[in-house]
Order: sequence, then C-alpha cells, then structure tokens
Amino acid sequence: MFSLQGKSALITGAGSGIGEAMAEAFALAGARVVVADFNESSGQAVVQRLIAAGGMAEFLRLDVTKEADFTEAVQRHPHIDIVVANAGIGHVGTVLTTQMADMDRVLEVNVRGVFRTMQAWLPGMVERGHGVLLNLCSTAGLGGLVDRFAYSTSKHAVLGLTRSAALDLAKTGVRVNCLCPGRVETPWVAQMLTKYPDEAAARREMAATQAMGRMGTPKEIAAAALFLVSDEASYLTGVALPVDGGWTAGMFPRKA
Ligand SMILES: NC(=O)c1ccc[n+]([C@@H]2O[C@H](COP(=O)([O-])OP(=O)(O)OC[C@H]3O[C@@H](n4cnc5c(N)ncnc54)[C@H](O)[C@@H]3O)[C@@H](O)[C@H]2O)c1
Repeated sequence: MFSLQGKSALITGAGSGIGEAMAEAFALAGARVVVADFNESSGQAVVQRLIAAGGMAEFLRLDVTKEADFTEAVQRHPHIDIVVANAGIGHVGTVLTTQMADMDRVLEVNVRGVFRTMQAWLPGMVERGHGVLLNLCSTAGLGGLVDRFAYSTSKHAVLGLTRSAALDLAKTGVRVNCLCPGRVETPWVAQMLTKYPDEAAARREMAATQAMGRMGTPKEIAAAALFLVSDEASYLTGVALPVDGGWTAGMFPRKA
C-alpha cells in the first residue's frame, strides 16, 4: 500500500519539520528522494539519516526565491515524478502592523517560491503524461488567522495556485493537491514558542486551540502526503486536505 517504488521525489524545505518527515516517509516507501533546502547542513543531515535507514536520498542546495537555482536543479535532476513545494516562512503581524517589506518577503517564499517549484518540472511531467505536485498550504489558507496577516494571505494564494493548476492540468496526467495542516510541532513552532515569556503556558494554549487539544506531529502530515502523492490517489486533484485534528470542522476561534 502506498508504494513509491521506482519513483523520484523532490521536496523543498526538506531539511526540517514537515519536509523532513515527508522525505523519510517517501524514502521508506521506496522513492529516490531529493532533499532540497537552502540550509545545507540540516539538509545533508537528513540525507545521511535516510541513507543510514536504507533509503535512497540526495541533497540539493535550492533557494526557492532564486530562479537560477531552479535552472540548475532541473539540469541536474531532469526527471522527477513527485514535486512537493513545502518550503515556507511565517510572519507575526496584523493588517495594521505588517509592513510592505514583510508582505513581499512572505509572498516571495510562500507564493512565488511555490509557483517556481510547481513550474520547474512540469514540462517533463506533461510530456511523459504523468506527475504529481503537492503544495503545503495551511488551515491559515482556509480561513483568516489573527495576527498572521501576511502568512494567511500567502496560504490563501497557495490554495488558488493549487486549484487553478489542477484544472489547467487535469487532462495531462499531472495531479495537483495541497495539504492544510493545523498547528504542527516542528522546529518552526518550537522557535516561535521561545518568544513568549511563559513558553510552557504558550505551548499549552496553542495546543488547546486545536480541536483534539494537541498539536499534530510532522509524521501525521507526512502520512497524508504519502497518500496524496501515491498512485492510490489517482482520482484526486485540486484537493485541499485539512490535516488538522478537526480544527476546521468546527467554529473554533482561529487563534495562533
Ligand atoms: N508547523 C506548522 O504548524 C505548519 C502548519 C501549517 C502549514 N505549515 C507549512 O508547512 C511547511 C513546512 O513548515 P515547517 O513547520 O516544517 O517549517 P520548518 O521551519 O521546520 O522547515 C522549513 C524548511 O524550509 C526551509 N526553507 C525556508 N526558506 C527556504 C527557501 N527560501 N528555500 C529553500 N528552503 C527554505 C528551511 O531551511 C527549513 O528546512 C511550510 O510551508 C509551512 O507554512 C506548517
């Protein structure tokens, strides 16, 4: 079930958190995984770990904000079956406090970076008549989020990129979907929590806003990703799948 034997997969931002967990899940399912990240040391560490576990993995230095990096990446890896646009950054701020420069920075990575990632390997996929694109959206792309103005805006755009591309490509054999995780315990969230005066209390509060009363794990997001990129999901395209422990099922206040 959910075998990726014989497939190649490239994941941006695979040096940490959700990207790292997807790299592991895909490698264990038999894929040859390209761990793409602009952080070389963390990306290489993930590759070493995957190889030690018996997987096939390789590091690629890729900054999703740089066009030239994609040109080089496609030359080096012309045939990729599964492309995951996972690299993303956060920003804390309201509509009043967010500066245009903050908005530009977030959109550059979270929207233009995803667009670049989606487009880079598409011509080959369309030519071969098969391929899978998976984007990392968020519950913040399904509804507004207090104090996350730029981030939520960027994730709403990821939803548009996913749905529109899915329709453009529906008859080509290329499927396009996105995942919408709720709050997930990754280094990103751990780092955010260190900024609160009472870290443990902030952590408890963050977990309490989730319907299940706990945050998700990167592994739980990776499991959903594995299904969406596998051949078992052959009739799924244009889907925005919440993996949020029920957060978006109810009328919970969308607190950070
Ligand atoms: N953690 C959560 O609660 C959560 C919830 C919903 C959605 N997401 C989304 O999941 C994705 C991964 O989040 P995470 O929590 O694992 O984050 P993370 O910070 O743990 O990992 C992000 C990775 O992306 C890399 N990266 C950042 N900018 C890059 C760039 N310009 N080029 C290449 N690589 C770059 C970083 O080096 C890092 O390895 C993001 O798109 C995020 O918006 C996360």
